[in-house]
Amino acid sequence: MNTVLKEKLLDIAKEAALKAGEIHLKYYDLPKEIYHKSNEFDLVTNVDKESEEIIIKTILSKFKNHSILAEESAEINQNSEFEWIIDPLDGTTNYAHKFPQFCVSIGLAYQKEIYVGVVYDALKKELFFATKDGGAFLNDKQIQVSSIKDLSKCLLATGFPYDRTNKENINFEYFKRFFYTSQAIRRPGAAALDMSYLACGRLDGFWELKLAPWDTAAASLIVREAGGIVTNFFTGEFNIFVKSVIAANNKTIYDAMTKILREATPHDTVLY
Ligand code: IPD
Ligand code: CA
Ligand code: CA
Repeated sequence: MNTVLKEKLLDIAKEAALKAGEIHLKYYDLPKEIYHKSNEFDLVTNVDKESEEIIIKTILSKFKNHSILAEESAEINQNSEFEWIIDPLDGTTNYAHKFPQFCVSIGLAYQKEIYVGVVYDALKKELFFATKDGGAFLNDKQIQVSSIKDLSKCLLATGFPYDRTNKENINFEYFKRFFYTSQAIRRPGAAALDMSYLACGRLDGFWELKLAPWDTAAASLIVREAGGIVTNFFTGEFNIFVKSVIAANNKTIYDAMTKILREATPHDTVLY
């Protein structure tokens, strides 16, 4: 894909993200309509829905034949080689509680590969973005991952899924192991921001299970373009449709994290 097209796609992704961010801010201090999705922990609000509508409208107004995979609505499959992957509000539980950590995430895949990623935190006015081979940025500054090479000095992040049917969630074991081997762990509650924080050096490593494509599409590119590594568990590759994610600032930390995750994973575990 040529640079002109990449920039055009990036511009529309930014425009859509900024519009969604305005909606996040508009309702932040107001009472929200809160609904439940798969279970009582899995929330969606009127803000998720309104943000998603404006994002899709903005994209289709410019690229009417593109396909769209967005969290809160039915897939728009137009058999296009271009597919937008959208989380209109990542960190809905935070948002519903007025915990100030949430964002919008918009990724664009061309022939199944991510070419554009935008993650926007409206409250902090932080716009993370990247294009394939074009570098990663936070607002007007290019960003890169940290240079720490010692796991015991790393600040890590993870998250836990809404699905609580599996009482023996393996992530508690992972959390325990990293608790004793890293400097500290955070659980901020918006995976796209966790990964963007890794990209700009605020975090050094991240892992999570049961993520969705809209959580990781944009941020995986931002991490890679900032010099970091992102893969699914134990494959050495990354596919947004595989739910487990390991991301790190460099190969040394990635290998150290992978070793611990592997050792903590019983052989019969079905990773999701
Ligand atoms: C959630 C957040 C959270 C992660 C969950 C996601 P949502 O997304 O990214 O950090 O731990 O797995 O589902 O539902 O707020 O868009
Ligand atoms: Ca999400
Ligand atoms: Ca969401």
